[in-house]
Amino acid sequence: MYLGLDLGTSGIRALLMDEDQRLIGSASAATPVSRPHPGWSEQDPALWNEACSSAVASLRAQLPREFAAVRAIGLSGHMHGATLFDAADQPLRPSILWNDSRAAAEASELDQDPRFRALTGNIVFPGFTAPKLLWLAHHEPELFARTAKVLLPKDALRLWLTGSHISDMSDASGTSWLNPAKRDWEDSLLQATGLTREHMPDLVEGSAPGGELRAELLAEWGLKGPVLVAGGAGDNAASAIGMGIAREGEAFVSLGTSGVIFAANDAFRPRPESAVHAFCHALPGRWHQMGVILSATDALNWYARITGSSAADLSRALGPDLQAPGEVTFLPYLSGERTPHNDTQIRGAFSGLSHSADRAALTRAVMEGVAFALADSLLALQAAGASLSRLVAVGGGSNSGYWLKVIATTLGIPVDLPVGGDFGAAFGAARLAMLAASGADPDAVCTPPAIASSFTPDRALAPAFAEAHERYRRLYPALAG
Ligand code: XUL
Repeated sequence: MYLGLDLGTSGIRALLMDEDQRLIGSASAATPVSRPHPGWSEQDPALWNEACSSAVASLRAQLPREFAAVRAIGLSGHMHGATLFDAADQPLRPSILWNDSRAAAEASELDQDPRFRALTGNIVFPGFTAPKLLWLAHHEPELFARTAKVLLPKDALRLWLTGSHISDMSDASGTSWLNPAKRDWEDSLLQATGLTREHMPDLVEGSAPGGELRAELLAEWGLKGPVLVAGGAGDNAASAIGMGIAREGEAFVSLGTSGVIFAANDAFRPRPESAVHAFCHALPGRWHQMGVILSATDALNWYARITGSSAADLSRALGPDLQAPGEVTFLPYLSGERTPHNDTQIRGAFSGLSHSADRAALTRAVMEGVAFALADSLLALQAAGASLSRLVAVGGGSNSGYWLKVIATTLGIPVDLPVGGDFGAAFGAARLAMLAASGADPDAVCTPPAIASSFTPDRALAPAFAEAHERYRRLYPALAG
């Protein structure tokens, strides 16, 4: 039995998978984000450990016999978070998350140093880890001086699980310190932010062993050791592993807190000028590209909150039939945007409001706005050489069939919804645990999921969506600056 742990932005999921890759059960616990200042986004690492304990406790309560048979654990987590530990492995402050934009000035300072793009293959985005350390050096110098280790969120959870400082290649790719071609830290880039290799965790492949569950937790969780912990992956690479997306041409669209179009690659294909991310995949010798938008379900959840509704109810109220975009356009830049704009200052907007703009019209505008932002990411990916003919849908937003119809029609690409769609990253983490424990062939393990339904682009409505996307694209330059 394998345990997959996915530390998401809004909650942790613990999932049990058996030797035949059947999903045996899952449990989750919430991990709220704190936003102490505009543009800030933080979480206390102690909260992750507590949420993990609580999700594991409910999984054990549901499935005591099955849980007792766990032989390996895989980790997935939201990427880029700067989680700082002192020499005694105590967290120094709340982790600064992927959608925190405080380090914009530091990011552009590092990005102007040509070594960063040349060696990492990526823009230094404000959400990435390195600029946050420079921000810390400028604004909290005492904490910077006491920082002994910089860990990514899932690796901070691993420290609590195992006592080891380890990361994997996919997650480490989002720090701005890793050279994804060499799959190693770059000393010169660490130096540029006042750090050395000593501050970094050791690196393993996602499908390789990366620590062992410590004795106290073995006893507390009723497990017979040793229980191995796999390298694991950043949440996007983990979702890809869960959906069997590991070979060139295979791709997914994720509707989570962030929105992602992810394409698997058999070579490292950087193209920083398109604001596409080019990272290591969670398997040796493989890479991926992705376009990332900062607010996907975050945008719909925001709209649900201010209208006193829920995202599910808003979606249900639209009915099953796709409608052409109306006159309202929504820009989902609630936290700024990454691909394609790399703009922390831009904010969201509704445009085209009239007396006829009711709740449903605005719900549709929010869903369409997220789809248009994803379409901009697709254009960036195509400019970076990706050619995608189908997308698997993952993440909480994929529960909305209406939204998937909007996305398929806007992108002009069929979207497949897998059976049990929302489990991608935790399932991928469990698969990485299986690979690390068994040494099995990754291609034999990372097979595609069964598909529950497929959404094909609506040819009759496609011109109206293309026109609305053009209108959307004209709004960004008008709002920027
Ligand atoms: C990827 C990214 C997000 C986070 C949160 O670059 O920032 O997708 O991993 O899910």
